[in-house]
Amino acid sequence: MKSPRLAFYVLTSLVFALTSAARNLIIDTDLFSDVDDAGALLLAATTPHTNLLAVAVNYPSSFSALAASAILAHYGHPSTPIGIRRPLTNATFFDNRSYELGEYTSKIAFQFSGGSLPWGHAEEAWDPVTLYRKALAEAEDGSVTIASIGFLDNVSFSPPRATYCPEDSTKATLTQLCALLNSTSDTYSTLNGHDLVSRKVSELVIMGGGYPTGRPSWNFWGSGNVSLAAHVVHTWPGRVVFAGTDVGKHVLTGGPLMMEGPKTDPVRMAYMYYSPFKARPSWDPLVVSYAMDGLRALFTFGNEYGYNQIEPDGSNRWIWDESVKTQFFLRLKVDNATAAAHVDDLFLRGARSTVKRSEGNTQPAAAHVEL
Ligand SMILES: *[C@@H]1O[C@H](CO)[C@@H](O)[C@H](O)[C@H]1NC(C)=O
Ligand SMILES: *[C@@H]1O[C@H](CO)[C@@H](O)[C@H](O)[C@H]1NC(C)=O
Ligand SMILES: *[C@@H]1O[C@H](CO)[C@@H](O)[C@H](O)[C@H]1NC(C)=O
Ligand SMILES: *[C@@H]1O[C@H](CO)[C@@H](O)[C@H](O)[C@H]1NC(C)=O
Ligand SMILES: *[C@@H]1O[C@H](CO)[C@@H](O)[C@H](O)[C@H]1NC(C)=O
Ligand SMILES: *[C@@H]1O[C@H](CO)[C@@H](O)[C@H](O)[C@H]1NC(C)=O
Repeated sequence: MKSPRLAFYVLTSLVFALTSAARNLIIDTDLFSDVDDAGALLLAATTPHTNLLAVAVNYPSSFSALAASAILAHYGHPSTPIGIRRPLTNATFFDNRSYELGEYTSKIAFQFSGGSLPWGHAEEAWDPVTLYRKALAEAEDGSVTIASIGFLDNVSFSPPRATYCPEDSTKATLTQLCALLNSTSDTYSTLNGHDLVSRKVSELVIMGGGYPTGRPSWNFWGSGNVSLAAHVVHTWPGRVVFAGTDVGKHVLTGGPLMMEGPKTDPVRMAYMYYSPFKARPSWDPLVVSYAMDGLRALFTFGNEYGYNQIEPDGSNRWIWDESVKTQFFLRLKVDNATAAAHVDDLFLRGARSTVKRSEGNTQPAAAHVEL
């Protein structure tokens, strides 16, 4: 143990792992232009007592879906279904803002090809709303947590445009959830989207905004149409927990994974392609950590009541209404460095547990990469 603090977290994690029931998790991700989505998938796929029911990708690049499949397969989830919005493109990320960050989705998709969508099979991904409906219909009532982790990397930040058409939108973080709420009965469930969510989902966790007030947030207007995100936030039936930019911005992680992680780990390689040997903010890993484990030692709620109001420009404002007790925003309960040490520890343990597992397999998951 490097520090008593770390020892404390390992111990509390163990105690909780032994006492808590498995959580059903669905992740809605824009795995594309920031690598913390990949870190979040590592956590979701390797944390014990988590059933990853589905992954819905909300950025329509075929490489985003294929990379998600490759990562999940590596960590022992080759059949977790993946949905993605259509029409698909072969878009790849290019950092024309700082020239500092690298593209990783196509490389991870190719080098670690596997799972339900191996290289060349992106078109076989589910329609995301259909996948949501199937996964929810098959889950126990009140058992599902949805983690919407999104676009807050600030690389593509530009002002909202009123003329943007939501149908043509290529970037849409809450759009899929809006469409889910708006869906009608199908072969999976006779319930409409609103009632299906109401019956099956225990909590929606949304990365986006600032608390108690936030400037225009990509997650809220990134669809090109704030009314879609506002619809989700204002009409979601049940508990919603928000994590603002401030929560993960200064929690810098990935360093130990890059330095000490297994050489053939796909998320280690994603970090290396994206930001070699330089730690990154942890917005999405922290949201997934909360979604899987709750407040624990890391978080506290910043409010006891009230709700989030999304404004037409994509900014947000907390309305301190004492009669509403279903919406909360997260604050870190520990300092940034302690939170980072916790996430880095989970990254390393997750990556290493998979290497151990594949050593005993006849077909190691990451046989493609030779260093
Ligand atoms: C993407 O690339 C694949 C493989 O080269 C190709 O089959 C597919 O048609 C491309 N899709 C688009 C939308 O360009
Ligand atoms: C970066 O590229 C995008 C897409 O090609 C373009 O819309 C944007 O204006 C570019 N930004 C800069 C700073 O060159
Ligand atoms: C985004 O980047 C701009 C320019 O670098 C900076 O001024 C702004 O504070 C950043 N916003 C967020 C939300 O990180
Ligand atoms: C935004 O979406 C709403 C609901 O679908 C629609 O009524 C409105 O016209 C859209 N606005 C724009 C600017 O596209
Ligand atoms: C879908 O959204 C439209 C526009 O907001 C609304 O009129 C309609 O009732 C919704 N349908 C369902 C099934 O929720
Ligand atoms: C994290 O770091 C930022 C920037 O130094 C600081 O403003 C913030 O208070 C820190 N958060 C915590 C929980 O210590």
